[in-house]
Amino acid sequence: MTRCEDDKVTRLVVVLHHSPTASTRRLTESVLDGATDPHIEGVEVEEIEALHATADDVRRADGLLIGTPVNFGYMSGALKHFFDRSYRDLLEPIHRVPVGLWVKGSSDASGAVRALIPILRSLDWRLVGEPLVIEGEVDARAQDAAYELGATLAAHLTL
Ligand SMILES: Cc1cc2nc3c(=O)[nH]c(=O)nc-3n(C[C@H](O)[C@H](O)[C@H](O)COP(=O)(O)O)c2cc1C
Repeated sequence: MTRCEDDKVTRLVVVLHHSPTASTRRLTESVLDGATDPHIEGVEVEEIEALHATADDVRRADGLLIGTPVNFGYMSGALKHFFDRSYRDLLEPIHRVPVGLWVKGSSDASGAVRALIPILRSLDWRLVGEPLVIEGEVDARAQDAAYELGATLAAHLTL
């Protein structure tokens, strides 16, 4: 939700994620660090675990960062549960919210990306850049890419 105070505009990035393991948590922390990069001004960041997120949490966002592990070739049940509960309330168009997406699998994350893209499209959300796909270990390179994803989306809101 864009706020204006003393001629300053603040935009809200909501980081909607399910991060049940140490490696997924590390990725999420890197995305959060990127979104809160001190060089990016005028952006506030809110983190919401998918299991507790509501449609209203997400509808307030000027930009979204969405992350999930891959389970059984699909997004996590937690993120699916969010969309199951909230999809109808998210359909009411607000604006073409920009979205950065990351998925983390052990060997094949393609099913989760394939599942998420049509959902984002049907909500008229706009994917910024390519989804970040991490398969296997979360090493320094993966963390850098996650940082970049967060920073890119946040910086996009200031354009
Ligand atoms: C029930 C279950 C199903 C999974 N299915 C897949 C899968 O289909 N494809 C895949 O690449 N990884 C799969 N994984 C691995 C998870 O994506 C992985 O545990 C997650 O990315 C976190 O990584 P970590 O366990 O190294 O912390 C599965 C894990 C679990 C627990």
